[in-house]
Amino acid sequence: MAYKHWKLDTDGENIAWLTFDKAESSTNTLSAEAVAELSAVLDELGAKTPRALIIRSGKTSGFIAGADVEEFTRITSTDDALAIVRRGWDVMNKLAALPFPTLALVNGFCMGGGLELALACRYRIAVDQPGTRFALPEVMLGILPGWGGVMRLPRVVGPTAALDMMMTGRSIDARRAERMGLVDASVPPRVMENSARMMALEAPAPRALPFMQSLMNSALLRPLVAAMARKQLAAKARREHYPAPYAILDLWQKYDGDPFAPPAGHTASVATLAEGDTARNLIRIFFLQERMKSLGKESSFEAKHVHVIGAGVMGGDIAAWCAMRGLAVTLQDQNAKALAPAIKRAQALFKRRLRDRRRIRDAADLLIPDVAGDGVRRADVIIEAIFENLEVKRALFEKLEAAAKPGAILATNTSSLKLADISANFDYPSRLVGIHFFNPVPQMQLVEIVSGGNTDQEIARKAAAFVRQIDKLPLHVKDAPGFLVNRVLGPYLNQALKMVDEGMAPETIDAAMARFGMPMGPIELADTVGLDICMHAGKALAGGIVEPPKKLADLVAAGNLGKKSGRGFYAWQDGKAQKGAVGAVTPELIERLIAPYLKEAQAVVAEGIVADADLADAGLIFGTGFAPFRGGPLNYLTNKPVR
Ligand code: NAI
Repeated sequence: MAYKHWKLDTDGENIAWLTFDKAESSTNTLSAEAVAELSAVLDELGAKTPRALIIRSGKTSGFIAGADVEEFTRITSTDDALAIVRRGWDVMNKLAALPFPTLALVNGFCMGGGLELALACRYRIAVDQPGTRFALPEVMLGILPGWGGVMRLPRVVGPTAALDMMMTGRSIDARRAERMGLVDASVPPRVMENSARMMALEAPAPRALPFMQSLMNSALLRPLVAAMARKQLAAKARREHYPAPYAILDLWQKYDGDPFAPPAGHTASVATLAEGDTARNLIRIFFLQERMKSLGKESSFEAKHVHVIGAGVMGGDIAAWCAMRGLAVTLQDQNAKALAPAIKRAQALFKRRLRDRRRIRDAADLLIPDVAGDGVRRADVIIEAIFENLEVKRALFEKLEAAAKPGAILATNTSSLKLADISANFDYPSRLVGIHFFNPVPQMQLVEIVSGGNTDQEIARKAAAFVRQIDKLPLHVKDAPGFLVNRVLGPYLNQALKMVDEGMAPETIDAAMARFGMPMGPIELADTVGLDICMHAGKALAGGIVEPPKKLADLVAAGNLGKKSGRGFYAWQDGKAQKGAVGAVTPELIERLIAPYLKEAQAVVAEGIVADADLADAGLIFGTGFAPFRGGPLNYLTNKPVR
């Protein structure tokens, strides 16, 4: 039979090769149609009984990205949600029940439903290449792996690793997958088909779980393992905010991963998750993120060489990040001594993130100290991250404009200076764009692309493409004080700091915002950012006319700048704020603290600082960590929250 999305061939050894090549799509997703066809293919194979079945991808990049998330947005009832789970659950069980050896040959990403398909096969081979990643990221969408993932992953890798993967959504690469037993082998690309063929023909006995892990997966120990995991989870996420990881635990512990086993209304039931707001809001964020990614596709610009000037807190980390993403980077500062700490920090970042010795060396080779500034003439992107001083920046850019290649992007990382002021002496002021990173650069996904009144929009689009190239999320913003993120954070922090002046304990304020769902309370955030920076940013936002909060000013005057100096609103030890008792947290307190944030978020949309409310939500979630399960501040305001 001919299929639209699948191709079935049988070779001379009677091995069936099933290739998934989703029609009209660059990525393989398991849409309703693709799953229905797969079911028909499996029926056909069941009748033919080949010697073995190998499932592979027909795409150049990637195995299977998972279910088609677009279809989730069309869910209008719990029956719709259950129907999606039912079709995947049934087809994976059909695959698992085939009487001959089955094998998934995984090249590239293997996510969600894609991994559940691989788990339903008897064997898995991973192609060891950079793009190969395995994950069950359903939890990030507020749902659970209901196509057999919760049942099969713990059986294959043991509950410790399985629960970690399912409850965090973390992805792992080919070698790690081999070490933990998720795949039977990890092989180089050139031998992948042969390796799959051999394994399918030899049909070795499937690997057994290590004794401890199989004990932990037994009915006897599951309650204990789940209780421990639940306790760890509770320290990170509240059940009423994020029900999905709790549901995953319950479903594994009590129902062995069968999504149809829990009774209606049970916390582990798919229907309960589908009815709540969290899944809807997290799916919304998924699409907001896709939208930001698409902003990088409006230009085909591709940088090969980046030159960063200023190797301080920001410039040093921007340079390291770009090198880690495979770009040649020259890093300039006033002298070699000023460059040394940045190079040291870069090395630590490479070690932490890349692990593999060869990849660490490759990244380090790409980062070149350049006191003389020779890189300026060759760079495709020049990022200025020197002191926040208009005169110095102007003088620097005058030289840069003359020396840079004609098509090179000239960008500033300024937080508070106006682009039009910096470019006042340019021959072509339209060349200057803001590429505004956030601190700490490796952790913060958002990057604001700032357009001044003069900025050429094609250059802003190129800048967005560059930001995607280094795997960050670009957002176009207008050049107005604080752009988007700092503009909204400013009044929110100010309010919290004023409440400290009124006598409220920082602990109580931070606990109130944690209850709301912020990843970090405003006082701890101020201490983390640095109180000097907060004070400077506050002044810049207010145009210098407003008195800063008193306690803040006192601390800064005494040199207590927060985390970096060991003391601020909190005392800091080993990178942790030492907190005392928390007072009463009331809904009124939460309301009072969050009100300035929400008001400012509405104002930035009204003033056109960002294109629309959805993009404001996106920027504020990825730039300030606004409670993701609420779907963004403007979404929160319009969809009256339940909790
Ligand atoms: P920093 O003080 O840590 O580093 C500035 C570096 O620039 C120093 O190493 C200095 O030696 C070097 N420098 C100064 N003049 C120079 C010149 N003419 N040529 C070469 N190097 C020169 O400053 P930081 O915090 O990294 O800030 C840099 C820029 O990034 C500023 O415009 C700031 O507004 C912006 N920014 C800062 C953020 C933060 O959280 N620190 C966040 C986002 C933007």
